[in-house]
Amino acid sequence: MIIIDNNVLKLEKIFYRYPDNKKDILKNLNIEIENEKWISIIGMNGSGKSTIAKIIDLLIKPDKGNVFINHQIVDDTNFNQLRMNIGIVFQNPEDQFVGSTIETDVAFGLENRNIDNKIMRKMVENALKEVNMFDLKDSPAESLSGGQKQRVAIAGIIAMDPKIIILDESTSMLDPASKKDIIKLIKKLKEIHHWTIISITHDVEQYSVSDKIIVIDKGEKVYENTPKNLFNNQEIIKKFNIEIPFSEYLSNKLELDTFNYSEKYLDEDEMIKWINQSK
Ligand SMILES: Nc1ncnc2c1ncn2[C@@H]1O[C@H](COP(=O)(O)OP(=O)(O)OP(=O)(O)O)[C@@H](O)[C@H]1O
Ligand SMILES: [Mg+2]
Repeated sequence: MIIIDNNVLKLEKIFYRYPDNKKDILKNLNIEIENEKWISIIGMNGSGKSTIAKIIDLLIKPDKGNVFINHQIVDDTNFNQLRMNIGIVFQNPEDQFVGSTIETDVAFGLENRNIDNKIMRKMVENALKEVNMFDLKDSPAESLSGGQKQRVAIAGIIAMDPKIIILDESTSMLDPASKKDIIKLIKKLKEIHHWTIISITHDVEQYSVSDKIIVIDKGEKVYENTPKNLFNNQEIIKKFNIEIPFSEYLSNKLELDTFNYSEKYLDEDEMIKWINQSK
């Protein structure tokens, strides 16, 4: 087969309905995600975003349509093998912790992979060091702050080494400083590990840094574009009640576009730099 695109993940005409539900939650959903890109999925509560995460993580099977991972169509024969490509960080990492210490929590996923104990400990050590949590390896997860718990959850992913990472509201329970801190860490790890990121979020700071934003409404994809193009699309912003970053609000108010303002989204610091340079 000739591969003509760079998509590591593709959802094709996906329909999904929960067994006890009367209506389709996902309707004819088509999503393509390119290797090593950062994609954000946004939309109102109940629009179906977490259901998309479950479809991608192969936790639920679509009623209709296909999921492709690394150009392979997912079926019953390759399901377990393809699932190893996906890692997910939830809103509340406590649901994922089962061990008595951070070290055992991170090791948990590796345990049924038949890896030599010494090598496994080394993998866990490296993963914890990457998220700067190695010094606390003997502590129980309960003793950690929200941000630290997310670091441990991320270490668990590093240890398993998947390449497609789903973040489902993974910073929504954190204070603003920890939120920034986790986004920065993920950005860094993305480069190191060549991750493709699918971030489901209500957080404007998080979706602003992505390569592409997909807007979901009532289980359908209603818009897909770069952050900058979305922020300039007044109709879509109003219709779906989308929060835009302060720097974009300000550039619109100042009508900076008329002075060749950046075609790319700039955050506040970058915007200040641009204004200073153009004075
Ligand atoms: N296990 C389930 N059984 C039945 N219906 C469900 C189940 N999980 C979700 N739903 C329904 O599916 C719809 C989409 O839910 P989903 O969790 O995907 O939304 P979401 O976009 O992630 O929302 P939020 O922003 O609040 O996290 C909702 O109407 C929800 O009530
Ligand atoms: Mg959700």
